[in-house]
Amino acid sequence: MNVKKLADLDVAGKRVFIRADLNVPQDEAGNIVEDTRIRASLPSIRYCLERGAAVMVTSHLGRPAEGECRAEDTLAPIAVRLGELLGKPVRLIRDWVEGGFEVRAGEIVLLENCRCNKGEKKDNEELAKKMAALCDIYVNDAFGTAHRAEATTHGIARFAPVACAGMLMGAEIDALTKATENPARPLVAIVGGAKVSTKLTILKTLAQKVDQLIVGGGIANTFLLASGKRIGESLAEPELVKEAQAIMDMMKARGAEVPLPVDVVVADEVSALARANRIPVDEVGPHDRILDVGPKSSAKLAEIIAHAGTIVWNGPVGVFEHNQFAGGTKMMASAIAHSEAFCIAGGGDTLAAIAKFHIAQDIGYISTGGGAFLEFLEGKKLPAIAALEARFAD
Ligand code: 3PG
Ligand code: MG
Repeated sequence: MNVKKLADLDVAGKRVFIRADLNVPQDEAGNIVEDTRIRASLPSIRYCLERGAAVMVTSHLGRPAEGECRAEDTLAPIAVRLGELLGKPVRLIRDWVEGGFEVRAGEIVLLENCRCNKGEKKDNEELAKKMAALCDIYVNDAFGTAHRAEATTHGIARFAPVACAGMLMGAEIDALTKATENPARPLVAIVGGAKVSTKLTILKTLAQKVDQLIVGGGIANTFLLASGKRIGESLAEPELVKEAQAIMDMMKARGAEVPLPVDVVVADEVSALARANRIPVDEVGPHDRILDVGPKSSAKLAEIIAHAGTIVWNGPVGVFEHNQFAGGTKMMASAIAHSEAFCIAGGGDTLAAIAKFHIAQDIGYISTGGGAFLEFLEGKKLPAIAALEARFAD
């Protein structure tokens, strides 16, 4: 991809505006639960600080209403964590669009939640111009938000004096290109999670490319329905059964496969105290909810993974947050960890599973993208990357 790279630029004494994706999960009190995205943003920030740039970093957090910044929208906890990781204080600047704040060379400030600014989501041109005027160099390092054309991810790139990709953005593009352009075969995709509808297009695209398509969670339930199984009260999308059927047919026609569970773990509720039962898939009762794959099924998945050349992983196969429904995802994680295949993984739940089962060091590349990761794999042109490409020549 033809984009300018931060590492090729002289940033000394320059005002550098970094759009990062620091949209991390928090608990009800606002504590950061998982900080992968913050850590992944450090190389670009350090690069600029060490070379004496005046560094402004911004990000969105959640999906706030524009024009106000409620307590739950603030980047304050992120400023604290960033400061801990950098070993220096990070000032948080509110109401920053019009400027009027100082940043010294070698200093970093965090600009409050960019989605609190009016016009951010709609990629407003006036807003983009004002933000561009704050800097000499615009750096997009927010791969996780690269599928959104917003003022800080897209518009600003048109008006900033220089627009380039940060180190994380560059690494993401390189790793995902490697896995998709000429993957070692067999190529195995794992797509789990709750809903088929949000992942339907990716499933269709993958069905044309991969050798095995492992589906998990609510997605697998919809596929089970499509193959004529009873799923009781399990989460599924019956209106998408035809689509699921079409995907299975597409795979079959290519001599490929969607392996479906032969046994499952069921309970009558999703909770930490729920009593789990392992049963053959044909014995699912009318009030059962399928919350994980059973041991026979996970052994089969592990075998597929063991023979893979490349693995693309997005989403768990069970409700792994609760230990009684974690067996399938755990077995899969361990198979991935032991496999020789190049594995790229992405998405919030996937990152949480990787952390829970301590396999981060065994994954070829962990993407910070969820939606962006999937859209890149679909072969879509991500608007934030397109905006950088448009500025490559000048
Ligand atoms: C994500 O968490 O997927 C990214 O930060 C993008 O967030 P969004 O889905 O609210 O645009
Ligand atoms: Mg999201």
